[in-house]
Amino acid sequence: MSQQENVQDYELHGQGSHDRYREDILGRANVADSPELLAYYKELAKYNTGALWTIANKIEPWQPKSTSVPVLWRYRDLRKHVLKSAELVTPEKAGRRVVYLENPGKSGEGPAVGLLYSGLQIMQPGEAASAHAHSSSALRFIMEGRGAYTIVDGQKMLLEANDFVLTPNGTWHEHGVEPDGTPCIWQDGLDMPLVNMLEAGFYKVHPDLHQAVTEPVDSSVALWGAPALRPQNIGWDKPYSPLFRYQWKPTYEALKHYASISAGSPFDDILMHYTNPLTGGHVMPTMGASMQLLRPGFVGKAHRHTGSFIYQVAKGTGYSVIDGQRFDWQERDIFCVPSWKFHEHVNTSQTEDACLFCFSDLPVMLALQLYYEEALTENNGHQRVGE
Ligand SMILES: [Fe+2]
Ligand SMILES: [Fe+2]
Repeated sequence: MSQQENVQDYELHGQGSHDRYREDILGRANVADSPELLAYYKELAKYNTGALWTIANKIEPWQPKSTSVPVLWRYRDLRKHVLKSAELVTPEKAGRRVVYLENPGKSGEGPAVGLLYSGLQIMQPGEAASAHAHSSSALRFIMEGRGAYTIVDGQKMLLEANDFVLTPNGTWHEHGVEPDGTPCIWQDGLDMPLVNMLEAGFYKVHPDLHQAVTEPVDSSVALWGAPALRPQNIGWDKPYSPLFRYQWKPTYEALKHYASISAGSPFDDILMHYTNPLTGGHVMPTMGASMQLLRPGFVGKAHRHTGSFIYQVAKGTGYSVIDGQRFDWQERDIFCVPSWKFHEHVNTSQTEDACLFCFSDLPVMLALQLYYEEALTENNGHQRVGE
């Protein structure tokens, strides 16, 4: 059975107001309480057990039911608070000086959407956070500032606006800003909620506080950053990309080249995934990322798919309709699309490109055979806003 047929099958098997009726006819759990059953449940509980039919419909929904909600985080609201954190706490005391993004549907647990964490980190000129390593994979997308750097397993790399940077799981990493730089802000993305859900998280600090820089600056870019070229006799056996820094300029150029010969996707216009140059696959096993270009006046159609997605507006202005709600965005705003929620993107400018950076748990969905996608077919492929 194809994925599309699978989705239709799930749809056929119902949702909404007819659930109860369909549960009757399709064999879903539908057992009314009785004094005898209630006593039975009580008895089972004594032995740390339960009757599956009391929870079956909840733990086996007809289709994905995200507990996350769509959210837009406006940078013009957040920026001053991120800057304020630099006055209030030091990186030494705070560990990482981050304002994290919290999904209201998951408040208190930390994820920005689904099982993805995200936050805005600030570092001041001359600051250097200590080196650490953890089971969670991390990525960052640079928002503003000059002079920031990251060191990953002895490789120092410079960070500029709209660069995308990896700190894969298990790598020693640390960040800082050169003394002659400016305050730097970037968005962090981690799979920490997933790792914690799997109860597999370790964290360690570097015994020397800071790691030695053992490679030339930006060596991963020099080795692996050339498009479609692979260095001779250089080995790499890690499960993540050997390229740690994906620079904005070649990324944007690649999108423009693609746009010059393609009609694009009706949902995403021109979208390219950041890839592991050795495999062509996603950059890390648990998180992938993409940059997409919405050409001037692009009006996308709605689709939905499994997986959790966090966007940052790298360039331009527009709006996205997510689960029937319209979110107007501009450069540096961040928004999320929870799993299986319809979404569509629009570039409202008739003259300027809009670019959306996005990271997600797509590699997990694909690896576990859990990825499904479908287009909205009604209303000419557009959601009705506010209904
Ligand atoms: Fe870290
Ligand atoms: Fe999508």
